[in-house]
Order: sequence, then C-alpha cells, then structure tokens
Amino acid sequence: VSRAIRIAPSLLSADFGRLRDDIAMCEAGGADWLHVDVMDGHFVPNLTFGAKIIETVRGLTDLPLDVHMMVEHPSQFFTDFAKAGASGMTIHAEATMHLHRDLCTVKEHGCWAGVVINPGTPVAALSAVVQEVDLVLIMSVDPGYGGQAFIPTSIDKIRQARALLDNVGSTATLEVDGGINRETIGRCAAAGADAFVAGHSIFSAADPRAEIGELRRHTLVTV
Ligand code: DX5
Ligand code: ZN
Repeated sequence: VSRAIRIAPSLLSADFGRLRDDIAMCEAGGADWLHVDVMDGHFVPNLTFGAKIIETVRGLTDLPLDVHMMVEHPSQFFTDFAKAGASGMTIHAEATMHLHRDLCTVKEHGCWAGVVINPGTPVAALSAVVQEVDLVLIMSVDPGYGGQAFIPTSIDKIRQARALLDNVGSTATLEVDGGINRETIGRCAAAGADAFVAGHSIFSAADPRAEIGELRRHTLVTV
C-alpha cells in the first residue's frame, strides 16, 4: 500500500523574527503542513505560544496548521485555537481526564482530531479512542524542546500503532515527532508512519528549503 507522505516542519525551530520568510521557505520547499507546538510550562517544562501566534501564522500561509498541544486541560483552548485558524488539534492522552470527550469536541470545532502519546506511554493507551481520531502521533522524544535525539524504541511503537489502525480499518494519519532527520525518517516510514514532523533537521540545514525534499526522499531509504 502506498500512503501519502506528509512533511510537517515544526515552527518551534523557526526564527520568530523572520517568521514570514521561514514560512515562505517551508512553502517553497514543498511542506505539506506546518506543525505548531503549543507548550504551557506545566505539561512540559517549556513555554511557547498560543492563539495569537496561531492567528499570525494563519495569516501568512494557506498550509494546514497541525497544532500539537503540550498543555494540561487542553479543552480550554479549543475554541480560541479553532477561531485562530488551527486545521487540526492533537492532544496528549496523558494530559486530560476526558480524552474521548475532548477528541469529540475538537471535531465539533471543525478541526481534525489527533491523539498523541509520550515515549513512556504504551500504545495500548490509544486503543479505546482510535476509532474517534483522524491522526495518531507517536512522540519519539520526550516533548518540550527541539533538537533532541530520536528514541530508538519509538520504531516499535510506530509499528504497533500501525497495526492498531489497520486492525480497526482506520485511515487515520500516523505521525511521528522528535529527532526526525535523514537517518531516522526511513525507518519510521517503513514501520508505518506517514506524517513526519521535523524542526532542527530542517531549520539548521545548510539549505532548509531543499532539506524538506531530502527528508521526503529519505522516507524511502532505510539505514
Ligand atoms: C517537541 C516538539 C516537536 C519539536 C521537534 O516537544 O513537539 O515538534 O519541534 O523538534 P525536532 O525535530 O528538532 O526534534
Ligand atoms: Zn510537536
């Protein structure tokens, strides 16, 4: 089966003083989505941005905005983020007492609904909601920062998540986030991932625009 491959540059590694240029670069390089990392300083030990910046990014591009919510009580932000122009909102299974309800609420806001698990959370945590979601995200680093090293055991979790989706006949996207570069992307694709977040490897490349295409090409290369 050949699946559509999506490359989602993470704006966490962009230069916020030149956000317009960096977004234009992502478009020119053929990015499929822009990945927007919202952090609250509680769920993760880092703080980023919220609706105001999502709205700014929305005004600079027509690309889908893949909003990754590393926040406690994510539901308090759904209305503001949807209004600001989020295309999809992905919430952590670890961050809410009401995962099923919250995923349904995301869809009611007209956004795609994603569920994400940390490296320390087993894939089994997804099984009760897999029928509700448009996207499953496997974190391949502990969330909070860009530029961390890929955790190798993530490959097996991608494989398990792919099997889970296939078993229920789900066509949800299977995304991976953290430490994705030319070396790691092929193994993730072979394990069944079809959407790939990349921050450091794109924005620190000698030619960031070309790197997006290089990553896409390397989904076919397993090393
Ligand atoms: C990490 C974020 C990621 C981050 C990935 O907490 O969720 O989206 O930007 O960055 P890289 O690709 O540099 O590991
Ligand atoms: Zn992310």
